[in-house]
Amino acid sequence: MRDSAAVKHRVRLRAGEEKWGTCQSPVSPIASAIDILPPPAYNRPAIGNDNRGAALKTILVYSSKHHMNTERVAQAIATELGAEARKVTDVKSPDLDGFDLIGFGSGINGFDVHPEMHALVDSLGEAKGRKVFLFSTCASRKVWTGKLREKLAAKGYSVVDEFCCAGLWTPGLVQVRKGHPSAEDLDAARAFARKLPSS
Ligand SMILES: Cc1cc2nc3c(=O)[nH]c(=O)nc-3n(C[C@H](O)[C@H](O)[C@H](O)COP(=O)(O)O)c2cc1C
Repeated sequence: MRDSAAVKHRVRLRAGEEKWGTCQSPVSPIASAIDILPPPAYNRPAIGNDNRGAALKTILVYSSKHHMNTERVAQAIATELGAEARKVTDVKSPDLDGFDLIGFGSGINGFDVHPEMHALVDSLGEAKGRKVFLFSTCASRKVWTGKLREKLAAKGYSVVDEFCCAGLWTPGLVQVRKGHPSAEDLDAARAFARKLPSS
């Protein structure tokens, strides 16, 4: 049996809940080498939306301003899903027509997502059975997406899951949550992506 060390990390987070996972991290060189190999095909998301289960056409829309923390999370999730991630300022409501799964992500500014994200969601039409997920980065490690979530639900969108992790905040000369999102945070984002519905 190989040596291992328990590593605590945030795996995923739903609204109002902080959920921490424990994974076994191999420490021997051979075990480490094995650990970086891709997971088996049955456990691996296919590359590209066309290959994802029953092919949910997916797009991510994000707003990231302070240190581009949320952009890094968006890119990690998008790459895992084989989906495109677009800046909220480059997206108009009709651009989202035809997508079955939409991810909305934002840095947190004043206990809420950025106004541009609210404006986009305000402009959205009927849900037509579409699924959405949320993601955010913030300094406090809390979920501040409640208003956006409620807005989407009121329009009939089904919020299937949510991811949040810490993000560097530099008010003045102070550094809060330095190093975040970390490699571990991005791994957790990819793991989150793998668990999103594919049909
Ligand atoms: C003006 C401003 C306001 C912020 N307000 C909050 C806040 O209310 N709660 C919080 O947890 N983090 C807050 N933060 C920290 C950011 O949410 C955090 O740095 C986030 O990762 C930034 O994401 P971005 O780089 O994608 O813009 C604030 C940051 C700034 C610059």
